[in-house]
Amino acid sequence: MGKDGFHVSTRNAVIIIVLFVLICVGVGLMAGLIRAPCPTIVQVTPAPITAGPVDTTTETPSLPQETTTAAPTGPEPWYQVRLPKYFIPQHYHLTQFPHFEGNQNSFEGNVSVRILVTQDTPYLLIHINYLNITMTRVTDYDTGAEKVVKNTFSHTPNQYWVVELSESLAANTVVVLHLSFEGSLDIGIVGFYKSTYTDSRTGLQRSLATTKFQPTSARKAYPCLDEPGLKANFTMTLIHKSEYTPLSNMLPERNETRPDGLIATTFQESPPMSTYLLVFIVCDFAYLENFTSDGLRVRIYAPPDRIEQGRFALEAAVKTHEWFQQWTGIPFQLPKLDHAAIPDYPSGATEHWGLITYREQRLLYTESQSTSSKQSVASIIAHELAHNYWGNPVTCDWWDDIWLNEGFATYFTSKAMAEIDIFQDWAMLDQFVSGTVHRMLAGDAVLSSHPLVKTDVNTPNDINQMFDSVTYSKGASVLNMIEGFMGAAKFQEAIRNFLKEYEFKTAITEQLWAEMQKVMGPGFNVSGTMNTWVRQTGYPVLNVRVEGNTIIASQDRFLYDKNATYDETESPYRYRWDVPLSFTTTTRENGLFWMNRTNEGESNFVLTGVNMANAVVKLNRGNKGFYRVNYSDEMWTKLADVLSSNHTRYQNTDRGNLLDDAFNLARASSLGYDTALSMTRYMSAEESFVVWRTLRSNLDYITTMFASRSTYGLWRKYVRNLSAPTMERLGFVDAGNHLDKLNRADIIRLSCGYGNDACLMNATSMFIDWIESGGTLALPVNLRLNILVYGMSETGGEEEWDFMWQLYQNPNTTASDKLNYLYILSHTKVTWLLNRYIEYAFDESKIPQQDFFTVMRYIASDDIGNPLVWDWVRENWENLVKRFGLEDRYFGQLIPSIVQDYNTKFKLDEVTSFFAKYPDAGAGEQGRLRAVETMKANIAWMENNEQIIANWLTSNV
Ligand SMILES: *[C@@H]1O[C@H](CO)[C@@H](O)[C@H](O)[C@H]1NC(C)=O
Ligand SMILES: *[C@@H]1O[C@H](CO)[C@@H](O)[C@H](O)[C@H]1NC(C)=O
Ligand SMILES: *[C@@H]1O[C@H](CO)[C@@H](O)[C@H](O)[C@H]1NC(C)=O
Ligand SMILES: *[C@@H]1O[C@H](CO)[C@@H](O)[C@H](O)[C@H]1NC(C)=O
Repeated sequence: MGKDGFHVSTRNAVIIIVLFVLICVGVGLMAGLIRAPCPTIVQVTPAPITAGPVDTTTETPSLPQETTTAAPTGPEPWYQVRLPKYFIPQHYHLTQFPHFEGNQNSFEGNVSVRILVTQDTPYLLIHINYLNITMTRVTDYDTGAEKVVKNTFSHTPNQYWVVELSESLAANTVVVLHLSFEGSLDIGIVGFYKSTYTDSRTGLQRSLATTKFQPTSARKAYPCLDEPGLKANFTMTLIHKSEYTPLSNMLPERNETRPDGLIATTFQESPPMSTYLLVFIVCDFAYLENFTSDGLRVRIYAPPDRIEQGRFALEAAVKTHEWFQQWTGIPFQLPKLDHAAIPDYPSGATEHWGLITYREQRLLYTESQSTSSKQSVASIIAHELAHNYWGNPVTCDWWDDIWLNEGFATYFTSKAMAEIDIFQDWAMLDQFVSGTVHRMLAGDAVLSSHPLVKTDVNTPNDINQMFDSVTYSKGASVLNMIEGFMGAAKFQEAIRNFLKEYEFKTAITEQLWAEMQKVMGPGFNVSGTMNTWVRQTGYPVLNVRVEGNTIIASQDRFLYDKNATYDETESPYRYRWDVPLSFTTTTRENGLFWMNRTNEGESNFVLTGVNMANAVVKLNRGNKGFYRVNYSDEMWTKLADVLSSNHTRYQNTDRGNLLDDAFNLARASSLGYDTALSMTRYMSAEESFVVWRTLRSNLDYITTMFASRSTYGLWRKYVRNLSAPTMERLGFVDAGNHLDKLNRADIIRLSCGYGNDACLMNATSMFIDWIESGGTLALPVNLRLNILVYGMSETGGEEEWDFMWQLYQNPNTTASDKLNYLYILSHTKVTWLLNRYIEYAFDESKIPQQDFFTVMRYIASDDIGNPLVWDWVRENWENLVKRFGLEDRYFGQLIPSIVQDYNTKFKLDEVTSFFAKYPDAGAGEQGRLRAVETMKANIAWMENNEQIIANWLTSNV
């Protein structure tokens, strides 16, 4: 019973792949990643696996690509992907007139860009993409005189509109480039686009025109010098019918009624800002309003029928903004701060200055939603508000330093929320460790990761790829480490100075180090130290033993693959780090040593004032450091004893750190699994959500590997015994504080999912009652998904399945519930129902094509479903190729997502012979290579560890 329930969340690489999309999207979302380009790094790691349906709908269809046959080159500036340095935009006056009602789908606009040209040149260059330019004029800013335009053309490979003048401009001329243009609101949901929704009160469809630019789609809405370092002031005019509301970064300044009855609303001029931060919307939204303590107007905008769902966001936004203002000491630079819920949105949210835009479900929240939804709404608001300091007034000079925006916003989400009263008992900084830090330590332990500050970021494709988990999560982890060794007060002082110094400007990483250097004073080299963390891939593992009162430590690069080979000299620091070696003890002494990268061998650190007879030393206090520690066997034993005798002698982040290091060292063959597993003996006493979250992530990989092995029964018993006391303490009720509610959802997965009878009885009896009530019985919000999933897997036959299917099809079901139902439907154990479900997925009249891959992943992530999907895909391969085309990158991920957890030679042969039969992989080429490599690694892992773990289980369960 319940066997497969958990599999869903653990079994398959599918989910890992979906998960890496989630991680990337999840983070990218916040900043506005468009296509969630994800690095391979997270994919092959034991990243914590989020059980539950994963929202892959964040993916937007790729924009049609303009075919570029081998781009010609030449000396002229348009052959360069970067703009020449001698164009300095100063001001834009942009007018936009969108046509979005009914089936209209276009816009027309004009822009006057004031540009200082600092070098002689006959050319002006400006970015455009998917825009038709209908008029080009150039005037002298000072005299207003026309400059004669000799020629204009677009250079599509680098997305430029090129203007050639009859006479060269002299250096230091200020010109105004006037352009009229036309565009479509219907090319993907980035740039300037149309969004629609159905007003539930009237049943009528409504539409709006809205924008989303970051990083390189501003040029799709208006011609601009589209690089973050080229800040300018903006004056925006929107032309609209009087019944619509025009919104932009600033407040409306004036409006005029045109002869045709339309209104032209002009907004106040903005302070200098980057092109991607401009935002404009014409909509029929309603709003809620409140004010911060110093009088800043905050509004939540949403479709009028659901505006009441914005109450929580309003309170969170006001409180969180007040915290940032107080912590930074910098007043908000704009006259108001709006947040808008957009029905169609490509990412989670984007920090548009003064008017933040969100995917609807990331901003709206009602009591009928889960606690984790509430936390995710509050978190994304905090993330975007952090950008009001890191990103909007102080912007990365170029996308290679985007961590200065996103790493900061990610870290400060947790830091701010941890200190705001309404989120006080959410333990956000502890959650930061179990979520962000642990996840990133896993993601950065493979060769295919990359340095936080990357070189060679040039094309839009390179830029999009920067919005990945390294930028967000490693950036944030590094800041957490810096605050750890600088101390909170100095950290705050340095950051405040940095924000003041670069307000309305851009900054690079070295300028951040310089501000920290001033605060740290001589004697500590900030840049030299920190660059070992941000300018090379990966992180170290410290090998540590204690002799008397001396800690003896050496460092190595940590990689999962012990046999991985790489060239040390490709990193300027030869993969060595300056490590802040902090410690804590059971007798509550804390301290910090610096372990220098230049010391090749062992370093000795003497603990003075610690009575070693009574104290057990643990390194990396609070897991503030971005590294792992491997202790001597003797120390591991002592640490395990501390946990068993009185685990609260270490704080929960230290406990989570010990578990995470032990399991990952074991995975990397640097520690025996018996040692790692022994660390879990005390878990019956563990009450902390964040420790459980870390452990659950680490158990997932083993569960996945053992799923069809004889040891599986014993493994399941071990996990359900481990979780049973906590399951009993929490109970199958939706009660307790915020963290209990989050923890219960995890613990139910470790109970029901591993065959805990009481848990399954609870889930199935509530499921049956719910079915009998025709779905009207209100299930406890935080238990609902688990009840439906385990109910379906335990008792779901044809009738239950069809009932759930009807709910999925109901037009009143929200998008996020639909995704839940697709997930739940994959949990029946009835084979023919699963096969029929696969066919439904392929039938566009039943399930939209965009969800085909999602459903396949859901089904394949189940033990029973996996072979069905694998067979079906092989049998229907040619049809699939016909439907999707080999160049579709999601199609390319399909097979890897099905087979990635296979761990036998037999399965590997099955996969490779299929690949041999269809050698043309198209966009799936890399995915196939990775899948084969991962399967081989799984096989090796099984050979090395299966018996050890089996033995441990036999004598310990
Ligand atoms: C741009 O011009 C092309 C060619 O004339 C036309 O096909 C296209 O529809 C135009 N696009 C817009 C948005 O006006
Ligand atoms: C135009 O401006 C006036 C005053 O500035 C304001 O009361 C009115 O609501 C505006 N009209 C529109 C359609 O925005
Ligand atoms: C841009 O706006 C700022 C005030 O927000 C002003 O001080 C500055 O002069 C403006 N710059 C230009 C080039 O207009
Ligand atoms: C506005 O904030 C105040 C103070 O926190 C609160 O009492 C009031 O209920 C809020 N109003 C709205 C409309 O949310």
